[in-house]
Amino acid sequence: MKKGLFLTIEGCDGSGKTTASLTVIEILKKQGYDVLYTREPGGSDIAEQIRKVILDVNNVAMDIRTEALLYAASRRQHLIEIILPALKENKIVVCDRFVDSSLAYQGYARGIGVDEVFSINQFAIDNHMPDLTIYYAIDAQEGLNRIASRKNLDRLDVESISFHKRVQEGYELLCAKYPERIKVIDATLSKEEVAKKTYELIIEKVKENV
Ligand code: TMP
Repeated sequence: MKKGLFLTIEGCDGSGKTTASLTVIEILKKQGYDVLYTREPGGSDIAEQIRKVILDVNNVAMDIRTEALLYAASRRQHLIEIILPALKENKIVVCDRFVDSSLAYQGYARGIGVDEVFSINQFAIDNHMPDLTIYYAIDAQEGLNRIASRKNLDRLDVESISFHKRVQEGYELLCAKYPERIKVIDATLSKEEVAKKTYELIIEKVKENV
């Protein structure tokens, strides 16, 4: 790899994006690629501390703009401490959620406005947008059904179904707005098929980059 590659994965809660990407990362590592998997909110010590505050189910009084700013703050710290240094070492960085999550969840679903949330994030990311984003498409209700049996649901997971439906709509708008960057995978396919499609998208991008 001549230069680093910045990939992000996105989707509604319960889309299976984490399982699929971790499966593919193992394959890529076995093939000799230098891959770093990381996630948001969190991914560095300070960012993980911010994650705890954001996702704590007891923080019911959190204002929606505070929430958006905390996600952006966590993102900034993670970018500076983890993502940019790894890209500088020419790694493939796979980040589980990034700015599109803030656009879909805070911008669209919370109703702050996608442009407004993008502008506070621009302060945090300073034009460091992903080279490729994979969106795992699933109906919001089906996603929630998949995570219903999980023990540790966070403050966002326990939001209403109408909130999660708006998240899905927000993502769909982003897919339509950025078709070059955001590629869609049907997350209702079998785990094997989702992993295969994920691998194909990543390897195509890797080949473009050599
Ligand atoms: P996770 O379940 O993928 O770890 O993400 C935690 C929750 O945070 C999930 O419900 C999505 C939400 N989220 C946002 O609302 N905005 C963001 O910017 C990010 C990164 C996550």
